[in-house]
Amino acid sequence: MRTFVTGAAGFIGSTLVDRLLADGHQVIGLDNLSTGRAENLKQAFLQYGPDGRFTFIRADLLGPELTSIVAANRPDVVFHLAAQASLPASIADPQRDAAINVLGTISLLEACRRADVDRFIYAASGGSRYGAPQRLPVTETCPVDPLSPYAAAKVAGELYAGAYAAMYGVRPISLGLANVYGPRQHPHGEAGVIAIFCHALMNRLATTIYGDGESTRDYVFVADVADAFIRAATTDHVVAGVFNVGTGLQTTVNEVHRLIADATGNADPPRYAAARSGEVRASALDITKCRSTLDWHPTVPLAEGIERTIDWLRAESHIESPVLQAF
Ligand SMILES: NC(=O)c1ccc[n+]([C@@H]2O[C@H](COP(=O)([O-])OP(=O)(O)OC[C@H]3O[C@@H](n4cnc5c(N)ncnc54)[C@H](O)[C@@H]3O)[C@@H](O)[C@H]2O)c1
Repeated sequence: MRTFVTGAAGFIGSTLVDRLLADGHQVIGLDNLSTGRAENLKQAFLQYGPDGRFTFIRADLLGPELTSIVAANRPDVVFHLAAQASLPASIADPQRDAAINVLGTISLLEACRRADVDRFIYAASGGSRYGAPQRLPVTETCPVDPLSPYAAAKVAGELYAGAYAAMYGVRPISLGLANVYGPRQHPHGEAGVIAIFCHALMNRLATTIYGDGESTRDYVFVADVADAFIRAATTDHVVAGVFNVGTGLQTTVNEVHRLIADATGNADPPRYAAARSGEVRASALDITKCRSTLDWHPTVPLAEGIERTIDWLRAESHIESPVLQAF
């Protein structure tokens, strides 16, 4: 397949790029490097740049050249992962969030329509699209209830993809991702509790848990997520719509901390601070639809995924940071 990946230098995007290349596909990656790192694409450049199987384009989704870039590259499938991916940043600047996540998605859909690209795979947010549902794990039929600008904008992207399906025959699939973790997740942001705790406990830095630590999330390993994207692109079934991608399991923040303490051999207890407002108490995605339709299931248990994240952070030991806290 000729594939086009937006957000190619990001945490999930670069993992998808590596997997696509390893599977023998052609990859054109696009990113403006706002939060993504060129370093994430080093292996792709070195191994697949010389024979032209991997190309990188530094460009912005909102730039006027997007249409001609997509047209010139004639992809069979577009994976849309570029986004403003921070929930707090969406609250601080909702207009900027909507510009990137809504208008940027529309620009890409327009470019796909003009270039006759019919397979469009969108990174939706399964963790935020359902709000705070009564019953867990939550299925795709649960009402959509975005509770933040980020959640609203990501849902808007899904809805626009659906509108393009109705009008132009684009076949969009939205993968509603749970809490993704693993190598290349930056440990210096305010999100990504596993990367933050791994980095802090490896370096004997203090960790903070906000609230009582009994709130839960559904943590899914990034390589499993890349696999879901590829299955969505290559399925023989004629499918469109939303598919939850998670594990269906709830893990508390206290349990995450304990697993990372065990893996790093650092038994320093966390500090506890007041809960942060706006965070849901519990979250988990029902993945029955993804299992049955895309034949996908998660393969990496949490303890193993944490080990792999720690291994990566050790190899990346040049990363220095003053950030000590999460959740
Ligand atoms: N990480 C998670 O747990 C999670 C959960 C649900 C959904 N998602 C979605 O998955 C996708 C990837 O998230 P991630 O965690 O890898 O985040 P990330 O920040 O690492 O990746 C986003 C990438 O998009 C690029 N980008 C941002 N704005 C751009 C623009 N205007 N033009 C071109 N490139 C731009 C960034 O430079 C970055 O490389 C996002 O769409 C995010 O909303 C992530």
